[in-house]
Amino acid sequence: MYSSAVPVHLVTHPLVQDALVTLRDARTPLEAFRRTARRISVLLATEALRDVPTREVTVQTPLEQAPGRQVAGDVVVVPVLRAGLGMLDAVLELVPTARVGHLGLRRDETTAVASQYYAKFPRGLADSFVLMIDPMLATGGSAVSGLDRLVEAGARSIRIACIVAAPEGIAVVAARYPDVHIYTPVVDRELNEHKFILPGLGDFGDRLYGTLES
Ligand code: PRP
Ligand code: URA
Repeated sequence: MYSSAVPVHLVTHPLVQDALVTLRDARTPLEAFRRTARRISVLLATEALRDVPTREVTVQTPLEQAPGRQVAGDVVVVPVLRAGLGMLDAVLELVPTARVGHLGLRRDETTAVASQYYAKFPRGLADSFVLMIDPMLATGGSAVSGLDRLVEAGARSIRIACIVAAPEGIAVVAARYPDVHIYTPVVDRELNEHKFILPGLGDFGDRLYGTLES
């Protein structure tokens, strides 16, 4: 845990940290960035889904019956567009039955204030295990806006998985949603004057989709 007062889970697994180096590296080309985003997301989501509801089952092996546990209940994954889409396949690989909600949020380039341009959630979120995925938690404006929207839609059990978090963003989320657990490999130093995370990895969406200006 980041601190006992804030439910931030630092995912320190060496494979997560290894992938993070590749994502941070400005020389990493598009294809490797995308592949690595998926790889780190599998590992992060594995942690974020650690307490997913399960039920006991019995399975017939070729030799005899064996007890086991299977994911039970409704898992809903909510990628924050665009960048969160880079983490979605990873989560669906782990929970192929998960339902998917989409949330379109865009930060204004000068003010860094997030505005919503799309939202479509599955019905009946009140009893769902919801995982919101967005690689960057910077000012926390997008995360809080997403959480507001999910809570309005009835969600009660929500976790966030991100790839880089800033202290400012964590503080903003924790102040408004102290029960929402955040899973991240790292909490970086600070935000710059443009509200980009330092040292960070740049603009995740642009690096994922090849829309960098220069
Ligand atoms: C990025 C990122 C987060 C947001 C984080 O999205 O994917 O959603 O910024 O910043 P915040 O914590 O200060 O709100 P962006 O708005 O750049 O859109 P994109 O995913 O379409 O590139
Ligand atoms: N969004 C990004 O993609 N990167 C940042 O550093 C901050 C917000």
